[in-house]
Amino acid sequence: MSYQSKLNSAATLPTIYNHRSIRKFTEQPLTDEQREAIAQAGRAASSSSFMQCIHIIRVTDTDKRAALSEVAANQKYVRTAAEFWVFCIDYSKHRLACPEAQLDWTEGLIIGAVDAGIMAQNCLLAAESLSLGGVYIGSLRNDVTKVTEILQLPQLTAPLFGLCLGYPAQNPLYRPRMPLTTLVSENTFRQMDKTALAAYDQQLAEYYQQRSGLDLNWSKAVANNFTKPVRPDILPYLHHQGLAKR
Ligand SMILES: Cc1cc2nc3c(=O)[nH]c(=O)nc-3n(C[C@H](O)[C@H](O)[C@H](O)COP(=O)(O)O)c2cc1C
Repeated sequence: MSYQSKLNSAATLPTIYNHRSIRKFTEQPLTDEQREAIAQAGRAASSSSFMQCIHIIRVTDTDKRAALSEVAANQKYVRTAAEFWVFCIDYSKHRLACPEAQLDWTEGLIIGAVDAGIMAQNCLLAAESLSLGGVYIGSLRNDVTKVTEILQLPQLTAPLFGLCLGYPAQNPLYRPRMPLTTLVSENTFRQMDKTALAAYDQQLAEYYQQRSGLDLNWSKAVANNFTKPVRPDILPYLHHQGLAKR
């Protein structure tokens, strides 16, 4: 197939380890071939019970891009990236295949969110292996109802996140992850302890200071995110779309 034979992609592990989110892009568009290769990478992903409950909307309309950027806290790159794709959960085709299917269990939502993440990461990794860059846009969920209007999403669908793609016009610092000792344990769960947390906070404080002079660390970022209601309109929205009702 053309998308497999014509493009030169970098080796997988260096591509994975070099990941940084890209938020500034040149104006150069992607070729049809690059776009197809990235979409085919998403299509090749594993899928829980092979239910394939994801739909990707490529947004090319500039008014829609602007409206989506506004939903996403005016993040400029939603408008300016060469490509903006929205990953949606989609059980509408399952209704078509089976009118009596029970599509409103919370498990269905987990399946969709997991599948979408796996599929999107295949896309981003494919893009990165072609010397492109990108960033996910979760802040689309700031106003899921508005996104639903803009993209005309039917019942049994919901937007999960967006993905900006394009040629990088920046080379950001690597954002240090937690050490493997905190992320992986053997046989039983091992909770992070205070010493490890303090060490990681220190490491991230240095990173934020160096990157942007910010007085921030991981614990403060957690507090910024989770000491207030977290998008409380999501559950009623999902119910309205016919999802996660029970
Ligand atoms: C599902 C998801 C949603 C995200 N949403 C946004 C977003 O709305 N805006 C943004 O600038 N970055 C967003 N990001 C990027 C993260 O901030 C970024 O991956 C993280 O800070 C680590 O940095 P790195 O990707 O450069 O290593 C998102 C990432 C994920 C996985």
